[in-house]
Amino acid sequence: MRQHLRVDVARAIERLKVLLGPAGYLEDAGDIEPFLTDHRKLYRGVTLLVALPSSTSEVASLVEICAAAGLGMVPHGGNTSYCGGATPREQGSEIVVSLRRMNRVRSLDALNYSMTVEAGCVLAAIQRAAEEADRLFPMSLGSEGSCTIGGNLSTNAGGTAVLRYGMMRDLVLGLEVVLPDGRVLDQLKPLRKDNTGYDLKQLFVGAEGTLGIVTAACLKLFPRPRGYATALVALASPQAAVDLLTGLRGSLGDNVTTFELLPRSALELVCRHIDGATDPFGHPHHWYALVEVSLPQADSDLAERLQTELAAGIERGALDDALLAASLGQRSAFWKLRENIPEAQAREGASLKHDVSVQTGRLPEFIDEGALLLERLVPGVRLVAYGHLGDGNLHFNLSFPSGGDQRVFLQRAEEVHRAIHELVARYRGSFSAEHGIGRHKVAELERYEDPVALDLMRRLKRVLDPDGIMNPGKVLREE
Ligand code: MLT
Ligand code: ZN
Repeated sequence: MRQHLRVDVARAIERLKVLLGPAGYLEDAGDIEPFLTDHRKLYRGVTLLVALPSSTSEVASLVEICAAAGLGMVPHGGNTSYCGGATPREQGSEIVVSLRRMNRVRSLDALNYSMTVEAGCVLAAIQRAAEEADRLFPMSLGSEGSCTIGGNLSTNAGGTAVLRYGMMRDLVLGLEVVLPDGRVLDQLKPLRKDNTGYDLKQLFVGAEGTLGIVTAACLKLFPRPRGYATALVALASPQAAVDLLTGLRGSLGDNVTTFELLPRSALELVCRHIDGATDPFGHPHHWYALVEVSLPQADSDLAERLQTELAAGIERGALDDALLAASLGQRSAFWKLRENIPEAQAREGASLKHDVSVQTGRLPEFIDEGALLLERLVPGVRLVAYGHLGDGNLHFNLSFPSGGDQRVFLQRAEEVHRAIHELVARYRGSFSAEHGIGRHKVAELERYEDPVALDLMRRLKRVLDPDGIMNPGKVLREE
C-alpha cells in the first residue's frame, strides 16, 4: 500500500511539472529553502515541490492532480504568519502552493468602491492601486510590504485600522476559491447586498487554507482621507487610555482610525534597538497611545478638535502629555515607535508572545491582573503589552528578566502560556485575537473552544475536504 502511494505521488509530481511548466515550480534545495520555515522560525518542514501556478485554472488542475494522489497542499502567501500556518510539516508529504505569480489587479471600479485582485497581490501594491484611483483600501499592517492578500484573507488579518474599518472579513465583498476537489467556487460579485442563502465566502476567510485555496477576492474600497492628524499621548495608565479613546470617539466619531497602546517597556526597546528611533518626550511616562484621526477634507477642523481635546485632557490631569505631529516626518517617527516593537523585542532576545483580546473596557483590569500573575510566576519578567487597544486586542508579550538566563526563561513557556490563557478564558476573551491558529495553537483551540463549535468545525472540514489534503494539521488536528 505504502509503495503504491509513493508511486502515485511520484506520478502526481511529474504531472504537476508538466502542467505548470519550467517557470511554474521550484525543486532545487536552495530555491525551496525560504518556503520551509516560518517567519518566527518555530517550524522547519520538508516539501516535495513548490508549485507556482499562474492562473485559477492552473490551481484547479493542480488541486485535481493532488486530490487524485491524496497529496497534501500548503497554500503560501508572503510567509509572514506568526503561527506556522503556511509551513509544510516534517513528513515531506505535502507540496507548497505559492500564489505569488497570481498578482494581477483584475479590475477596479471606483464608482462601486471595489476592486478585484488575485491572491498573490502584495498588500502594499493593493493600497497603491486604490490610491491611484483616489480610493482607500484600509487594511494596514507592519508586514504590508511582503504579506499577500490571499494570506490576509486566509488569516482574517487585523492591523492598525480595525477600529474604523474592521478586519479582513469586513473588507471582502466576494471570493474565488479552488475547492479540495478542484472545482472553482466563483463568488466574486462586487455587491454590497446579496442575501442569497449562506454566506459561503466567509467560510474561507480565516480558514487558513484548510478548506480551499483562495485565488482571488473582490475588496471594499473607501473614500480616501485627505490627510491625517496623528498624536502621541503620554498616560499614567491603561484606564486613562480607555477613557481617552471613549472621549475621542464621542467627539470625533469614526474619524478616529487608530488607537494603539504602548507601554514604557516597548518604547525603551524600540529606542535601544532601532536606528533613528527616539523618545519624543522630555522624560519617561508609564504608557503611551498612538492616536490617528483621518481628515475627510483638506480644510477639516478635526485636527484642531483633536488638539483641543488633548489640551483639555492635560488641563484636567487625565493625560500626562501629548504631541501632535507637525509634519509628515514627525508622523512617521511616531509610527516608527509603534511598528518596530516586534522587531525591537526580537532583537532584545528571548520573548514569549500572547495575542489576546477582551472587551476593551476590561483591558485595564486584565493588564493589572496579568502583570501581577506574571511577576509571581517569573520574578523580574518584563511585560511588553502593546497593540490594538481600540479593538480590545493586545500583544501581551514578555521579555526575559534583565540579566536573567534566556534559556531558563524559555523553559517556562508552557507554564506562562497556560497562566495567561486561563486568565483570558476567565475574561471570556480570545487566546488568538489576530494571528490565527496555524499549527502553533491547535492544542489551545481544542482546549478553549466551545465543544459544539469545535465539532461543527471538524464536520465542516470533513464535508469540504474529506481526504484532509488542504493544509493538513493546521487549525484542526489531522484525523
Ligand atoms: C503587531 O501588531 O505589531 C503585529 O500583530 C505583530 C506582533 O504581534 O508582534
Ligand atoms: Zn497586531
